[in-house]
Amino acid sequence: MTGLVVAMDGPSGSGKSSVSRGVARALGLRYLDTGAMYRAMTWWMLRQGVDLADPAAVAARCGEPRIESGTDPDAPTIHVDGVDVAGPIREAAVTAAVSAVAAVPEVRVRLVALQREIAGTGDIVLEGRDIGTVVCPDATVKVYLTASAEARARRRSAEVAGSTVAAQQEAMARRDALDSTRKTDPLSMAAGAVELDTTALSLDEVIAEVLRLVAERRSSEGESEANELRSGRDHVRERT
Ligand code: DC
Repeated sequence: MTGLVVAMDGPSGSGKSSVSRGVARALGLRYLDTGAMYRAMTWWMLRQGVDLADPAAVAARCGEPRIESGTDPDAPTIHVDGVDVAGPIREAAVTAAVSAVAAVPEVRVRLVALQREIAGTGDIVLEGRDIGTVVCPDATVKVYLTASAEARARRRSAEVAGSTVAAQQEAMARRDALDSTRKTDPLSMAAGAVELDTTALSLDEVIAEVLRLVAERRSSEGESEANELRSGRDHVRERT
């Protein structure tokens, strides 16, 4: 039997990172920020001077960087070729360019393979845009987080020094449009996902709701396993 997998998808600013880390912490699971991997790839491309407007150039180089993600929810890490890039990948130049890099199919093939390798046999919360649809379609629980555009921009501008809510809202709308309309693995709600609108909820309330979903799924899985066992025993009895 494989371990628990929680898939957390949604647009930027919906609260995915804080919620995912809180859920992982509460359940003793690992945590993977897949957006950080796309950002790390973008950081490397910018440093190499690759023309990001040329998808063929991005595709030709995307197998080169060694991207390593640490999965401790209390201290997630991201390294490229041994360099700690946790800070640089949040800078404006990377944020502005990441959607173009994430739209290149070869980049996605490589990073999805890495993400599946890290997910392994489970016991992990993964956050991103395509976790429930592509990376882990068999996840135990799939959550799709949303929030109003204004709430998302407010949260993001509180995180980024010197930014206004209006500027954030505009930049996010641009990025969301690119992420949702790209040809390969666009942001969309997975079959079987539960949509959670976090606009009016506190972080603790959202975490509690996800934990409730996990408990509910586990108990229904437990019940069906017990039923299978019971029917197995009935079967044995019938035959003897
Ligand atoms: O979650 P984030 O803002 O750090 O993500 C950065 C970008 O990476 C975002 O524009 C969409 C892209 N992304 C993706 O295409 N697929 C993922 N699983 C995660 C992120």
